[in-house]
This record gives sequence, C-alpha cells and structure tokens, in this order.
Amino acid sequence: MAFALSINLNKIALLRNSREGNYPSVIEHAKLCLENGVDGITVHPRPDQRHIRPSDCLELKTLLADKPQEFNIEGNPFEAKHGTYPGFIEIIRECKPEQATLVPDQGSQLTSDHGFDLNVSGQPLESIVNKLKSWNIRVSLFMDPDREQIRLAKELGADRIELYTGPFAHAYSLNDADDIFKKHCEAAQYATEIGLGVNAGHDLNLDNMKLYKTLPGLLEVSIGHAFTVDSLQYGMKSTIERYLELCR
Ligand code: PXP
Repeated sequence: MAFALSINLNKIALLRNSREGNYPSVIEHAKLCLENGVDGITVHPRPDQRHIRPSDCLELKTLLADKPQEFNIEGNPFEAKHGTYPGFIEIIRECKPEQATLVPDQGSQLTSDHGFDLNVSGQPLESIVNKLKSWNIRVSLFMDPDREQIRLAKELGADRIELYTGPFAHAYSLNDADDIFKKHCEAAQYATEIGLGVNAGHDLNLDNMKLYKTLPGLLEVSIGHAFTVDSLQYGMKSTIERYLELCR
C-alpha cells in the first residue's frame, strides 16, 4: 500500500543558520522537493530557532497555499511566546497547516525522543486539540507504540498518531528489530481499528524503511536527517526518487 512521504527540512535550515544570509534556502529546497514528487513538507520550529524559524513557516505556508501537497508543522504545543518566538500555537494559527504534529519535547532536547504520556498530558492537551480541530487542522500526536496510550489519544480526539520510530531504527541497525517491529505493527493495527490514522517518523532511512514500509495501515512518514545525508551522497532529486520508490 502506498503512503505519503513528507520531507522534513530542519537540517537545511540548520546549515543555513551556520552562516549569515539565506544559503542554502529552505524555500528553494522545498520547491525542489515538491517539483520532484514528495507528498508534503514538514518543519519543527523550536523555540531556540536553531533550525526552522517562524518566518520559514510563513514562507512555506505561502509556497504551499496553491499546491496539493501537505504542510505539517511539528512541535511542543505548550511552548509559549518568548523573545522572537511567538509560541507554537500562534505559529499554527498563522500558518494553518494541513496537519499539526504535537510532540512532548523540551526546548533543550537535541531531538524528539519519546511519545506523549497522556496520563500526564491528556488533560492540558484537550483544549489544544479541540482548538486545532476547530481550525480544520488535522491533529497527530507523537506516540510510543503503547496500546493504552493510543486509546487515550483517540479519547482525546486526535485524528492520527505519529509512531516514534527512533528505538525501532536503533534496533534495526543492530539487526535486532523483529520484536520492536512486531510491537509497532500491533500498535498500528490497534490504532487503525479504533479510527486513528498512523504516521511514523524519526531516524527512518533508506535501509530501515525496507521493513518499516510494511507497517499495516501506514499513512505517512516524515524523514529529515537521513534524507539530508543521503542527498549529499546521491543528490536531492535522486534521493527523493529512492525514498518515493519505497513509499509507492
Ligand atoms: N518526527 C518528529 C516528531 C521529529 O521531531 C523529527 C525530527 O525533527 C522527525 C519526525 C524526523 O526525524 P529524522 O530527522 O530523524 O528523519
């Protein structure tokens, strides 16, 4: 079954931010991705603005406005305004992406490394999920493959979950992914049964996607780090072709 490929452009922004100016341009790379057939663009504007900035989100919103591809913005919905960072929900309000992927990471984290514990975050998330849905934004929650937590995600009104694939990718690199992949398959099957769509992301690459692409009911993957590294080796156009071949 085909599923969507959303390219995460954080690492292009990280490279740009290592110098003054706008090179490499996030927008030009988004255009390249879109022209070469990807299904969506993902960004994760963090409060410290170390890669994607709020202004990138606005420019991407304009670029994607008349295009069929999906705009997905990830982040911690509890990140409030400080300094030039307007707050995650304000970015979403301004950009109105097709999908918001809510992630329980702290600003200081190197990268997202766990899903929500909805026994703790469920109640404060409820009004946020309702607000985003009232803006016609699809809400996806970053989750570990845990049946009870997935049930709570449904109860909260999420449309989709994004399964955190970091531990799967690590196990795959050690040739030891059978058990964890089984857990992901069971979680995905359960999510689908109770009416949640299933996305996945983190540390996915051309190698481990050969297995992960068989996840039942998979609707979308978002890939950034490995995609950027592969683009250095193969060029971006050829890298997109390689990933699309796995997704179709
Ligand atoms: N999903 C979430 C929630 C993320 O935070 C990230 C990294 O920004 C990804 C997916 C993509 O992970 P990677 O860059 O390892 O492909």
